[in-house]
Amino acid sequence: MSDYDFDVIVIGAGPGGYVAAIRAAQLGLKTACVESRETLGGTCLNVGCIPSKAMLHASEFYDKAANGELAKMGIKTTVELDLDTMQGQRKDAVKGLTGGIEYLFKKNKVEWLKGHGAFTGKDTIDVAGKSYRAKNIVIATGSSVTPLPGVEIDEKIVVSSTGALEFTKVPKHLVVIGGGVIGLELGSVWKRLGAKVTVVEFLDALLPGMDGEIRKEAAKLFKKQGMELKLGTKVTGVTINGGNATVTVEPAAGGAAETLEADAVLVSIGRRPNTDGLALERAGLTVNKRGQIEIGHDFDTATPGIWAIGDVVPGPMLAHKAEDEGIAVAENIAGLTGIVNHDVIPGVVYTMPEIAGVGLTEEQAKERGEVKVGKFPMMANSRAKTNHEPDGFVKVIADAKTDKVLGVHIIASVAGTMIAQAAQAMEFGATSEDIAYTCHAHPTHSEAIKEAAMAVTGKPIHI
Ligand code: FAD
Ligand code: NAI
Repeated sequence: MSDYDFDVIVIGAGPGGYVAAIRAAQLGLKTACVESRETLGGTCLNVGCIPSKAMLHASEFYDKAANGELAKMGIKTTVELDLDTMQGQRKDAVKGLTGGIEYLFKKNKVEWLKGHGAFTGKDTIDVAGKSYRAKNIVIATGSSVTPLPGVEIDEKIVVSSTGALEFTKVPKHLVVIGGGVIGLELGSVWKRLGAKVTVVEFLDALLPGMDGEIRKEAAKLFKKQGMELKLGTKVTGVTINGGNATVTVEPAAGGAAETLEADAVLVSIGRRPNTDGLALERAGLTVNKRGQIEIGHDFDTATPGIWAIGDVVPGPMLAHKAEDEGIAVAENIAGLTGIVNHDVIPGVVYTMPEIAGVGLTEEQAKERGEVKVGKFPMMANSRAKTNHEPDGFVKVIADAKTDKVLGVHIIASVAGTMIAQAAQAMEFGATSEDIAYTCHAHPTHSEAIKEAAMAVTGKPIHI
């Protein structure tokens, strides 16, 4: 290996970086991974996907017990919230999984270089005062919260998602700035645990990027659950007075301002790529207008030998997208063919019901040509109805001429699980007829996908 310390150094041990490092090592490459956090796993395992799902899961049980859902099924309970224990199980989930990555690093002989990594040249980086040279360097530094100008995050009263996972008491009134994925997931957690939640969203609908009809249905359901939605509204300032905050809002199009009093404010207006302190210029790299590192088809950057994946590059900021890119980049470095089909990346919002989509929205599909759409309500799905989960629907969008499935969008209690089937069908180039003639087990929520596919040609059975 001549004078290189490693074949591959990956900077960042999130789902993109740790997966790239493990796959590179599996392929026989001498690999190290630089991570400045105390634990491996990045945003996702430490302060993102995993802890948020731990709180969503636990708060859903609490809600079902507290709001009489369990009683409807003959389960009588006296409900009391023990937030310390709920937070404890969140921490345990994080500890278990981050420790698991450390074990996998040892098992696969990936060396963890602890500290902040910065380029000192095109093939050298500095970590904690030591210099390392590698044939290939993968940038997988992820993203962090986008600040709102003029609003200071203290992680106590005005919090990012990290602070909103760690509240030690249930806020009385939580104002959420941004009706995207984080705002709705964490807003749901604290709403279920007893907070009043007001979501202030700049646009006229929640969840930008998702299918229009799904966005409307989502807003209807969140309102039904008691969330206050202030759409088409912008926050112009937040002032702290003692233990409380005053949030000033006004119509996005301009108009009279009003104030909201809150004891907690969550800033969730998006995330931005992490490139500060990397000294990209020493590697001959720059960032685009959105702060991302531009890449080619193989995840290669403008500098040969330097690659980039995950939240730091263009595309959806999702853990599974980062993971798949991690595998692909390692395979490309090893001389194999690593590919990610960016047209088929599912997205899931883990609220109740869950909201999931893959492929084109109806709006995008119609821009490209004629489409046929089949829809099926969860109300008419026997399993969802039996489980007292009637909200939502499945929508299958197919090309009008070829019948090829272009997109699938679902609101349903288990939409996140159901969407995997749609992604697989699309990956295999399925038509709506292929799905409609596939035997689905009964009684399952997934039958709603089959019936929505049948509805594309106008022939579902149960509606
Ligand atoms: P990251 O996970 O951000 O990891 C990058 C790592 O690099 C970090 O650990 C950082 O410390 C380290 N690092 C950065 N710079 C340096 C440096 N110079 N030297 C050393 N180390 C460095 N996505 C989903 O798909 N599903 C979900 O349910 C989901 N839930 C989320 C919930 C929340 C609250 C948040 C905030 C995000 C969520 N996401 C979810 C998004 C997901 O976490 C990210 O898309 C994913 O973590 C991106 O992976 P990554 O490897 O690109 O970067
Ligand atoms: P987001 O992009 O999903 O939503 C941000 C929202 O804030 C948008 O609706 C936007 O219109 C709004 N907004 C922007 N500026 C505003 C302002 N000044 N006032 C009011 N509203 C404003 O970003 P979010 O929720 O912060 O999440 C960041 C990323 O993390 C997401 O893009 C997602 O990829 C990832 N994530 C994924 C999850 C999942 O897969 N389940 C869960 C949580 C996060």
